[in-house]
Amino acid sequence: MSQNYTAAIVGCGDIAHHHVKGYQRAGVELVAVVDPLEIARAQYREEYGIERDFASVEEMLAEVAPDIVSVCTWHLLHPAPTIAAARAGVKGVICEKPMAVGLGLADEMVAVCEEHGTRLVISHQRRFTPGWEKARELVQSGAIGQVQQVETKVGAGLLNCGTHVIDGARFMLGDPETEWVMGAVERQSERFERDTPIEDGSMALVHMAGGVQFLLQTDLDMSEAWHFFVRGSGGLIDATETRCRLFNEASGGWQEQDLGVPAEQIDVIGGKANERQTRELIAWIEGGPEHRGSGRRARETVAVMMALLESARQHRVVRFPLQEQGYPLELMLQEGKLEPAQKGRYDIRGYLNREGVDEGEYAKLRATGMGHHQIMRTLSEREEERNG
Ligand SMILES: NC(=O)c1ccc[n+]([C@@H]2O[C@H](COP(=O)([O-])OP(=O)(O)OC[C@H]3O[C@@H](n4cnc5c(N)ncnc54)[C@H](O)[C@@H]3O)[C@@H](O)[C@H]2O)c1
Repeated sequence: MSQNYTAAIVGCGDIAHHHVKGYQRAGVELVAVVDPLEIARAQYREEYGIERDFASVEEMLAEVAPDIVSVCTWHLLHPAPTIAAARAGVKGVICEKPMAVGLGLADEMVAVCEEHGTRLVISHQRRFTPGWEKARELVQSGAIGQVQQVETKVGAGLLNCGTHVIDGARFMLGDPETEWVMGAVERQSERFERDTPIEDGSMALVHMAGGVQFLLQTDLDMSEAWHFFVRGSGGLIDATETRCRLFNEASGGWQEQDLGVPAEQIDVIGGKANERQTRELIAWIEGGPEHRGSGRRARETVAVMMALLESARQHRVVRFPLQEQGYPLELMLQEGKLEPAQKGRYDIRGYLNREGVDEGEYAKLRATGMGHHQIMRTLSEREEERNG
């Protein structure tokens, strides 16, 4: 690192703790935090010794000139702070996934960052896990011959966890171009995730350059979820973030791959994953190669998600480049194409909303060492019990 870097955090909730860890481990100084909730800002200032705090990103950017800004707000609030930070001239942005809810917004983020020379990274930090890296290495080395298909399953929504595994498949395959997507969606209930309407379940067949196909299920069958089965003309890979197995002519059955670190010491989130993500951004800022999780690459992941939904909306194969710029699920709702059978809005991450939380109880749980996510879930469960 040729100079000392400073960073500011936007959104002092759960994931921001992992960004902080990444900065600390990479030797980046935290200079400011932003959150409309005073209590959330105070907690970060206290826990991490951060000097300045602001209620809005605009106020922060007017007064502080951090080198890097982390955007750790909910999905719908990813584009605006990213664009504001780029316009203010920051060197780098690490924005949380999903990059944006709509391809038009993702492209705007990339364009504004490029225009201002801001290096944009989307936090698909699992690209830094040894299991995924080993799978990519095996694919590239030809260990399973010509790759034909990748298959994976995941839960908790397409935008939330689907983005990670689409991005993961793309990473393992060397970020190939998408040619077409065929998708199916069910939304029988009024399901939301972090304020965004989402599907109950979905599936997609993604056809990529070179003829490789990626088969994805979200919130359908969850057996072996988060496993990637990569099939080639000469073998098979079974990979997760913490494990990678190879089966080919030479392997003598399933052969466990040495990841160089025990599974229990691998950070899927935070720790080394966020540290390496941060370090690679700094290297990119300093003229190194494009970050493996760059905005340009993540916008392709957004395009696949939106094409899945657009395919269900149009009842046809969606060929790339994707034309629809908005959020096809929202459009289906407006068009009356997804009328839910069960009425009643619910949000699968609604418990993260800190407004109205008993902060005394929060502090007691925090003092036990419990993480933010777990505290919020516990408080929400207690509230539900109280309300019968
Ligand atoms: N990369 C990963 O593995 C991973 C894991 C978990 C969450 N995430 C992503 O991180 C994002 C945040 O999720 P979370 O679980 O941390 O949520 P959270 O609710 O715990 O934190 C969000 C914070 O943003 C604050 N906020 C709201 N409006 C704001 C604004 N205008 N400006 C600044 N701050 C504002 C809230 O008060 C809250 O403190 C989501 O998009 C989620 O998908 C990523």
